[in-house]
Amino acid sequence: MAIRKVGVVGLGLMGSGIAQVCAQAGLPTVAREVDQGLVDKGLGRIKKFLDDGVAKGKVEAQVRDKTLANLTGTAKVEDLADCDLVIEAIVENLDAKHALFAALDKVAKPETIYASNTSSLSVTEMAAGTERPGRFVGLHFFNPVPLMKLVEVVSTIVTEPAVVTEVKAFAGAIGKTPVSTGDTTGFVVNRLLVPYLLDAIRMLERGVATREDIDNAMKLGCGYPMGPLTLLDFVGLDTTYYIANIMFDEFKEPSFAPPPLLKRMVLAGHHGRKSGRGFYDYSQKS
Ligand code: 3HC
Repeated sequence: MAIRKVGVVGLGLMGSGIAQVCAQAGLPTVAREVDQGLVDKGLGRIKKFLDDGVAKGKVEAQVRDKTLANLTGTAKVEDLADCDLVIEAIVENLDAKHALFAALDKVAKPETIYASNTSSLSVTEMAAGTERPGRFVGLHFFNPVPLMKLVEVVSTIVTEPAVVTEVKAFAGAIGKTPVSTGDTTGFVVNRLLVPYLLDAIRMLERGVATREDIDNAMKLGCGYPMGPLTLLDFVGLDTTYYIANIMFDEFKEPSFAPPPLLKRMVLAGHHGRKSGRGFYDYSQKS
């Protein structure tokens, strides 16, 4: 495999999971955040996930130690210069992403592949703003990254086929199953998942069933690991609202329109697990 060293930019929930799976697969991984405080926070999150895995008997202590040894935290873009693949997982803001790739263009070697973990922005637009649009793909991971097996490999009309082949080999090497998709908003998973989640909110809004009954119906009736309202709390109501608005803007189809209840909950700061409250209350749980 041509990809031997990886850079991950942004060490939030997704970025730290991506950096972890790369390092766990034995690849030297440079993990970049904007300042040392955020670098330490991201690396701390990875260590905690690995420690929990050891405690649960799912990860060997030796694997945890090797994974942590493969990770280098940095606040400097220059430290990504010799990476074969750089995966961007920063905030979902096009200007911020353009600025990052412009900075990378100044330091990265010409053959470095760029990838974005965006869930809803246009990969084509990001690629077109760089000096290497042919070597740019979307690599969309799923939360929690170390446990979810899928990665969507998004190619644009200008992505070189050899780059897609290399990236799919990389996905396999880090233990994920790649699916190929074109650059349309939501790709495969969110295109199907978001209308389903929004419909569950509409159902609750209209009083068809209680939150528990909606969740139990889909868990027990369809074998889903989480009901839709629990999953919304897990993904984040603010994140879902943001994605739904972008999808509605793109397709103008009512199935993507965020229901009023979702908007009100976001406005009230009920963002799900991370804020302590969403469709369920997490304030008493550790
Ligand atoms: N290290 C290693 N393994 C671990 C671990 C750790 N720190 N923590 C848990 N595990 C293992 C467990 O031991 C268990 O293994 P087993 O199946 O062999 O027993 C497995 O991972 C599942 O963990 P738990 O038993 O603790 O928890 P659950 O069974 O409740 O599963 C879940 C948790 C994987 C999150 C499951 O509920 C799930 O799949 N939920 C749906 C998640 C989902 O849909 N994600 C996608 C969201 S959409 C998205 O991300 C796209 C974005 O654009 C919005």
